[in-house]
Amino acid sequence: MNAVDIINKTKNSVPLTDEEIKWLVRSYTNDEIPDYQMSAWLMAVCMKGLTEEETLALTYAMRDSGDILQLDVPMTADKHSTGGVGDKTTLIIGPAAAAAGVCMAKMSGRGLGHTGGTIDKLESISGFRTELPMEEFEAILRETNFSVISQSGNICPADKKIYALRNATGTVDSIPLICASIMSKKLATNADCLLLDVKCGSGAFMKTHEEAQKLAMLMEKIGNMAGKRCKAVVTDMNTPLGKNIGNALEVSEALEILRGNDKGSLYELCMQLTAEILVLADKGSYDECLAMAKESVSSGKALEIFRRTIELQGGDARICDDSSLLPQAKYCYEVRAARNMRILSMDSQALGMTSLLLGAGRLSKSDTIDMSAGIVMNCAPGDCMYEGDVIMTLYSSVISDFTETSVRALDALEYTDMPSGSEN
Ligand code: URA
Repeated sequence: MNAVDIINKTKNSVPLTDEEIKWLVRSYTNDEIPDYQMSAWLMAVCMKGLTEEETLALTYAMRDSGDILQLDVPMTADKHSTGGVGDKTTLIIGPAAAAAGVCMAKMSGRGLGHTGGTIDKLESISGFRTELPMEEFEAILRETNFSVISQSGNICPADKKIYALRNATGTVDSIPLICASIMSKKLATNADCLLLDVKCGSGAFMKTHEEAQKLAMLMEKIGNMAGKRCKAVVTDMNTPLGKNIGNALEVSEALEILRGNDKGSLYELCMQLTAEILVLADKGSYDECLAMAKESVSSGKALEIFRRTIELQGGDARICDDSSLLPQAKYCYEVRAARNMRILSMDSQALGMTSLLLGAGRLSKSDTIDMSAGIVMNCAPGDCMYEGDVIMTLYSSVISDFTETSVRALDALEYTDMPSGSEN
């Protein structure tokens, strides 16, 4: 076999055999194929696509490039979001599903670019350890049914190498490549039930519903072909999820929901996704599972699970009662309406980038982040804001001059002016 033949086949839409795909992935991971040939093949995939069979073979080849987790706990479930802005759903769904009797074993990533990562959010809790030996991860799962650790060890080394190359060669936005990248990691972490939350809209990889639906259907099919109980749903990412963007701010918002104090749209979405996980784990019909999810929160059980998991992972669990113990920003700035306006829409990606510039995210993997930084939104599409109203508040401990970030934040909103006096 040789790389040029394989590149030409994909370029000419001739399907590759499983053996060819295995050879390509193995040879690239072992440094036997140079970056320029792998880049050419990835670009051919972007242009010509892959069949479902090829995508499955690529997923398996990447999964098999490293370890496959074998946890010594009963049936486990995992939820994966394709990434968005303000997405703190794992912090709510994990404890809620755990309280309803499903073992939520999650390996999560850090944020990069405008999207956040669950590991960074959890590390905003003082002392919280995300790198645990497998035995400790299993012991926590046995006690609380919920633990999140960072992706460690030798999980999917092929994806690590290929993803870095895709980032540098403009070959990220290909549905089969995204599917194989995500599913190889999910299959290597080996949960029995898998809920895939495909985000769609301005803050997501998939900008249109059609693309998101395509990715969702492909990932669900690949998951089921690999023997998992797998469901993919498409959810909106045209506006940030909830009100808060930024690590500690998001933990604080998740806690308000777990305390039962916030029953807004983020709560509803989390309850629906929790119900989907419970259905996959055979806990009942969708309606029964939705009721169980809500009961997990209203009874306080989900909050107690989160508290115990924080304790076991070394974190300061007092935050469960007092969010002011989370990192607090040194500086803040209220962005106010200069005139009467109606908010039409928001560019989530631009708000995610503004939050990053405030210190909440990283542009490159080695950047350090300011856990206290971010944005609290005080408006949603459709809202009328009157002159002087606070539209959003920006927080940072590293930036005290908000001139640039406040302009960017306002530019992320689309609004129409309303005549003055319209408030009467
Ligand atoms: N997330 C991944 O892990 N891989 C992709 O290709 C895109 C998003």
